[in-house]
Amino acid sequence: MPPLAVQIREIPPSAIIAIRHAVLWPNVALDAQLYEYDFAPGTVHIGAFRPDASEPVAVGTLVRAAFARPDALDADTRLLEAVQLRKLAVVAQLQGQGVGKAMMAYTAALLTPAHGDKPLLLHFDARAAQAPFYEKLGYAVLDPTVFTKTFGGEVVSFIRMGKVLRPAGA
Ligand SMILES: CC(C)(COP(=O)(O)OP(=O)(O)OC[C@H]1O[C@@H](n2cnc3c(N)ncnc32)[C@H](O)[C@@H]1OP(=O)(O)O)[C@@H](O)C(=O)NCCC(=O)NCCS
Repeated sequence: MPPLAVQIREIPPSAIIAIRHAVLWPNVALDAQLYEYDFAPGTVHIGAFRPDASEPVAVGTLVRAAFARPDALDADTRLLEAVQLRKLAVVAQLQGQGVGKAMMAYTAALLTPAHGDKPLLLHFDARAAQAPFYEKLGYAVLDPTVFTKTFGGEVVSFIRMGKVLRPAGA
């Protein structure tokens, strides 16, 4: 099956709430889905849209944030600027049709440094169940420690993953 056609673009924080709630943390109230980092300087929210649609079918958030376990990184990687991808989610009925992959490709293209600039570390807390999705796209486990997060009474296991994005042509 060919990947679903979507257009990916920057969106405001208000546009991510519905999908975060429906797909990721249904037990967290709609008015509690946004966090301080969603409004921090440098944070970018992205959404994927079907042709002519006004509501996104996938969302994700890119936050300037250091990797939580610097000791797990090699000395060079530890020094890099870092961006954390947070709360990537595709609406349930369109999962498995290439939208998540397109969101990851857009993210990598957006963050890949210009020629001559320093590499950048893109990292994220992957739901452990989704680690194979990210591995398929070339992302690696950066710290093997599995940990849990609890939101609205729901406990989910995570593992820290990512990769260094090197300048084009480097
Ligand atoms: C995880 C998620 C973002 C992936 O997006 P998606 O649109 O469903 O995935 P895609 O269709 O782009 O998949 C790309 C490839 O990864 C594979 N893949 C997707 N999820 C997978 C998984 N959990 N395990 C193994 N492979 C997986 C697909 O089969 C596809 O392989 P192919 O290129 O060989 O056909 C999406 O399913 C989702 O939102 N899930 C629920 C919320 C969630 O867990 N978000 C992630 C938080 S870390």
